[in-house]
Formats: sequence, C-alpha cells, structure tokens
Amino acid sequence: MDRIKITGGNKLNGIIPISGAKNAALPLMIASLLTNETLTLENMPHLADVELLTRILGNHGADYSVNGRREHQNGSYERTVHFTTKNIVDTTAPYELVAKMRASFWVIAPLLARAGEAIVSLPGGCSIGTRPVDLMLDSLTALGANIEIENGYARATTKGGLTGAEFTFPKVSVGATHVALMAASLAKGDTIIHNAACEPEVVNLADCLNAMGAKIEGAGTPTIRIQGVTSLNGARVRVIPDRIETGTYAMAVAMTGGDVVLQNTRSDLLTSALDVLRQTGAEITDVENGIRVVRNGHGIAPVDITTDPFPGFPTDLQAQFMGLMTKAKGTSHITETIFENRFMHVQELARLGAKISLSGQTATVEGVERLKGAPVMATDLRASATLVIAGLVAEGETTVNRVYHLDRGFERLEEKLSNCGAEISRISG
Ligand code: EPZ
Repeated sequence: MDRIKITGGNKLNGIIPISGAKNAALPLMIASLLTNETLTLENMPHLADVELLTRILGNHGADYSVNGRREHQNGSYERTVHFTTKNIVDTTAPYELVAKMRASFWVIAPLLARAGEAIVSLPGGCSIGTRPVDLMLDSLTALGANIEIENGYARATTKGGLTGAEFTFPKVSVGATHVALMAASLAKGDTIIHNAACEPEVVNLADCLNAMGAKIEGAGTPTIRIQGVTSLNGARVRVIPDRIETGTYAMAVAMTGGDVVLQNTRSDLLTSALDVLRQTGAEITDVENGIRVVRNGHGIAPVDITTDPFPGFPTDLQAQFMGLMTKAKGTSHITETIFENRFMHVQELARLGAKISLSGQTATVEGVERLKGAPVMATDLRASATLVIAGLVAEGETTVNRVYHLDRGFERLEEKLSNCGAEISRISG
C-alpha cells in the first residue's frame, strides 16, 4: 500500500493548478445514464472515485472514451471524457460496488427514470457518519415510485413513469437533491423541491441537465422548479473547479507561510472558508483565473467555525481547518453539524503533538508551538489531507499511511505540493 513521506519546514511558493471537482464530476457522470446520446464532460479530474464510477456505469451499459491532452500548457491536467449509454443493459447496482463508493447509490434516479426499475444496494455504514438514504427514497416515492427494501437492496419501480410533485426535504442533502433533480427531469409534469441543497455541485448538475434539454429553474437556491420532459439529449458540459481542493491548498499555505496562486478556480465557490482563512491572517486575493494566497511571518490567529450546508463553512474542509488550528496562537472551537462522526483525524493529529479535546460535536483545539513528525494513518479522504497539512510544518518526518483515501479525491497531491517547494514524496508498495 502506498505511503506519503513528508519532511516538514518548507514554505510553499508557486502555482498549484486546481482540478475539476470530484463531487461535481460524479453526479454529472451519473446523469449520462439519462440519455441514449453522448454526454461529454470537460475538466474531468483523474481520481480513483472517477475510475470506479466509470466501471459502475459500464455495468449499466455506459461506454466511455477519454481524450484531450493530459497536461495543459498552464500545468493543469484536465481531461475530456465522453459517456454514451445507448441502452440500459442492467438495472442492478450490486453491493460490492455501491459499498465502495456511496455516491454510486445515486444511479437509482436515472435507472428508474429511464428503465422504470432500479435495484440498488443500500450503501451501509461509513467512517464519517450513518449517512442514511431515506431522503433520496422519499423523494422518489413523492414522484410516484414504488420502493421496497429487500435483502439489503432498494428496489424502485414505476408503472407508467414518474410524475411531478411538490415536496420539502426535512434536511438539506446534496445527494437527495441530485437524485430528485435527475428523476424529476424525466417525470410527467412539474416538480417543486423545497429546502434543496444550494451547493455549487447542485448548480453544475442542473446546468448539465438543462444543457441536455431539461427545464430546471432555481438551482443554487432552496427552491427548485422542474418542468418534466419526455427525453434528454447529449451535451457538452464543464465540471466546475474543486472548491475543496482549492480550500485544502489555501489552508496548506496558511499553515506553512508562502505565496501561492491557485489556478483554474474561483473564490465565489468557497467564500465562507476564504473569509475564515483571512481571519487567521492569510491574505487572499482574486487573480486572473484563480486565487492568490499569501501568509507572511506573522502567526496563525485562532478562529471558531461551525460547518453548515453551502454557503456555510463546508464539512469537507473541517478536518483541514483543524490541522491549521493545531498551530494557531490560541484556542479555537470547531463544531461539526453535518456528519456525526467526522472527527477521526483528532487522534492522528494528536500523534503529531496537537492538543485537541472533544465534547459532543465540538473540538477544542489549543494551538501548540510545534508539531513533531510521526507515522499516521489516514481514516478518510479529507482526514488524510489534514495529516498532510500538519506534516508540512511538523519537525522531521511524517509518513501518512493508507494513501488510497487521498487518491479518491486529490489528483497528484504530492506533485502539486512538491512543485511549490514541499519535501513530499510517495513511497510505493
Ligand atoms: C456530499 O455527500 C459529498 N459527497 C460529501 O463529500 C459532503 O461531505 C456532503 O455532500 C455534504 O456537503 C459527494 O458529493 C460525492 P448529504 P452526501 O446528503 O450527498 C444526511 C467528500 O469528502 N442524509 O448532503 O452524501 C446525511 O447523513 C464527501 O468528498 C440523510 O439523513 O451528503 C448528512 O448528515 C464526504 N438522509 C446530511 O444529510 C439522506 O437520504 C447531509 O448529507 C441523505 C442524507
């Protein structure tokens, strides 16, 4: 199993190209099952989760081809991928695949809308929380689907297709909003979704569906209106920049000090996180096609945060921010409101000398003068990133084990950081 070795102490200076967003790419890929024409996705990240979902879509009948140069002149690595599903050849998504990647559960919507049936394994538990799928199933039921749970699978069927409806999600859910958008696009009549997720990835999906011929208004606000259409066509759509990768590298610079331009990204995708970083002492400005992050000699100021749905502080940056706060000049409080078990990184950060105590959903982080390198274990994707951030300033050597978590969501992380002066490398095997 690969490991990442970091020798801490170097500032970051240079340019980091930001990839397309994993969490936008995945629902766009799934949306390709809604049409028998080709959906072309530009700015696709090259990640383990994207590879896995490509295989999963292949089981349902999707063909894909990749083109475009791997490496652009500006140092980015974007790819263009074409997905075509002439026919849905299998309406079952098996446990072995869905358990590996929860987002693959979302295939339930296009399979049901296009083939009238979807048999999708329930994803089971997860390292960051229970993560049920009830809201997704409820939205499909509201659209007229019949849902039965049997042998660990959700079997969704329709007689004569889905029908538009008006419903309110009791809780904001990105995945449930994706599922409802895809299903309602091919339902008969109008759908109004209240309390929809406003995340930029939802807007990217709605824009993609509209480019495919859907009629969706209001994405990015809590109320989305969808006028159902009978079929969708192919389209060419660009995956938005990865706001979590952007925020992760911004936090890395805030941690090490230095001057880095994050290229091919947009500050409006993560306004709240950048505002918090400014309060810690980083200077953040918009530059052409990117964001510049500078932190000079002064220390890191402690800031309290609470995670919230967009436009609040994202849960996917909570771990990384905690990494930054371990070196702050004072005490900060970090409250997680989205997932009930997203603090697995606390004990790993403690191995590097961090002082963190947990009480319910709040972590109290007492900044320390220095962290010291140690072997640590990645527990999930974003927790892995915080160990890298901490390792960049820890004295001596830090080895991050179980790097496959990182490979799910960060493209060429060690290359991007070492190009900016970090001493970081991958040890294979
Ligand atoms: C998406 O997960 C992201 N994943 C997550 O990123 C992200 O943390 C999360 O949104 C919140 O922003 C992808 O986009 C692939 P939710 P999702 O449904 O859609 C509860 C990462 O690191 N809920 O918005 O699964 C749920 O348990 C990942 O890249 C229900 O109760 O998250 C949670 O408490 C991790 N019933 C809350 O809603 C449901 O049916 C929000 O989850 C669905 C969700």
